[in-house]
Amino acid sequence: MSPHLRSALACLLVFSTALVPGLAQNPGAGKVVPKLEPIAETRLIMEGLAHPNFRGIERNLSKMALDDSGWTFARGQALLIAETANLLMLRPPKAQGQPVWFEHAMDLRSQATQLAQQLAKKNVERGKAGLHNLAKSCNRCHQSFRVPIEIVPFQPAEPPLRKV
Ligand code: HEC
Repeated sequence: MSPHLRSALACLLVFSTALVPGLAQNPGAGKVVPKLEPIAETRLIMEGLAHPNFRGIERNLSKMALDDSGWTFARGQALLIAETANLLMLRPPKAQGQPVWFEHAMDLRSQATQLAQQLAKKNVERGKAGLHNLAKSCNRCHQSFRVPIEIVPFQPAEPPLRKV
């Protein structure tokens, strides 16, 4: 190794140990406990993750013939809804109803995961049935927390129907 390159590398090492604590010879390194914190409003999670992914699966399942990339995409969207359920678990209501919230969020995660499994098998009928079950899961939580939104799959109505 040329001296020039060696000094450049040494310099890089000094910088990286200064900037990245985990790279330093620090006995406490590796014991970092991440603290999960909700950042976005629940409404944004609904509008930006839950709903668009739901509609995306619906659009794909409504196509006459879904090609491989369409199935892969739809499966990914179902998995993103399952991850959304994990994010919802960071956002229980403050006052009361936390156990109910967690139950609904876990139910959402399992419905979305099951739907992803059906979509991986490329079965339209089972995929549609899974999307109906997923909508029921969305609505159970909305009903429990008096959110006036009903998710109805395979309906032209957009945005979702407001019940009041
Ligand atoms: C664990 C509870 C819970 C689950 C499960 C849930 N939601 Fe929601 N959703 C809420 C709450 C609470 C609100 C109201 C948020 C607000 O306005 O502050 C909401 C609001 C919404 C809204 C309205 C957002 C707006 O602009 O006012 C849509 C759309 C929505 N949810 C879609 C979905 C879909 C689709 C699913 C299922 C894939 C789902 N939700 C599952 C709790 C839930």
